[in-house]
Amino acid sequence: MEQTRREKRRAFKQFINQNAADLPIKEHGGLRIVSFERDGKFDYDLYREVQTRGNKYKLDWQWVPHEHIELLAGHLLSIGLTPKFGLCHGTRQGFEQRWFREHLPGQPKVIGTEISDTAEDFPDTIQWDFHEVKPEWIGATDFIYSNSWDHSYDPVKALAAWISCLTPGGALLLDHAQDFLPDQVSTLDPCGISEEGLVTLLNTEFGHEGGVTGVLQGGKRKRESIRTIVYRKNDHL
Ligand SMILES: C[S@@+](CC[C@H](N)C(=O)[O-])C[C@H]1O[C@@H](n2cnc3c(N)ncnc32)[C@H](O)[C@@H]1O
Repeated sequence: MEQTRREKRRAFKQFINQNAADLPIKEHGGLRIVSFERDGKFDYDLYREVQTRGNKYKLDWQWVPHEHIELLAGHLLSIGLTPKFGLCHGTRQGFEQRWFREHLPGQPKVIGTEISDTAEDFPDTIQWDFHEVKPEWIGATDFIYSNSWDHSYDPVKALAAWISCLTPGGALLLDHAQDFLPDQVSTLDPCGISEEGLVTLLNTEFGHEGGVTGVLQGGKRKRESIRTIVYRKNDHL
């Protein structure tokens, strides 16, 4: 029999309590991160298991609203981009890649990554850990969007990977909201930083390759504001 949402939540919490209750929290450069290190070793299998179980327990939840993606597609056009290829990272049911394609001219190819094996149930979604890149994405991706970067075990690694994929002049769009603040970190959402902190991190770690060009007022999700940090790669590398 299908589990209710409450039962799924209880099962997920039980897994966390039994397997990941004692993970240390690390803070540096404005970031606050639940570390999956045990005895000095990174436990990738545990990270993946937590994310996959979290994905399954929330599979029918939708974080980003359609209007927000429509607004971001409009922004890409307003800055002169006519994307042929885009990536969305951490996409669960795959709606954001569909909405970008709908609102961009020529229905460009937009692929979503998802760490969970549920990826195969959704169109244009591949099962893939967003900390890694496919060789064919490097320097070939006109835009990258994510509202899931707070699920990263190492956001500087993830951002470096994503920026390596951008075309010259390409744009990285990172949503920020209340959920992404340092005091909101959990085992499932292991990383948090303030909006200003994320802007500073992008400009200091990746300022040699590009920079933050602005922060968009991206409308609301329920009653919460979504803001989107736009980083553009230099077009004269
Ligand atoms: C907060 S949900 C957001 C889902 C979707 N973007 C939305 O707006 O509803 C985060 C998603 O990212 C996925 N995820 C977590 N870590 C990931 C990783 N390292 N690589 C790819 N996907 C990941 C989770 O499984 C989950 O489906």
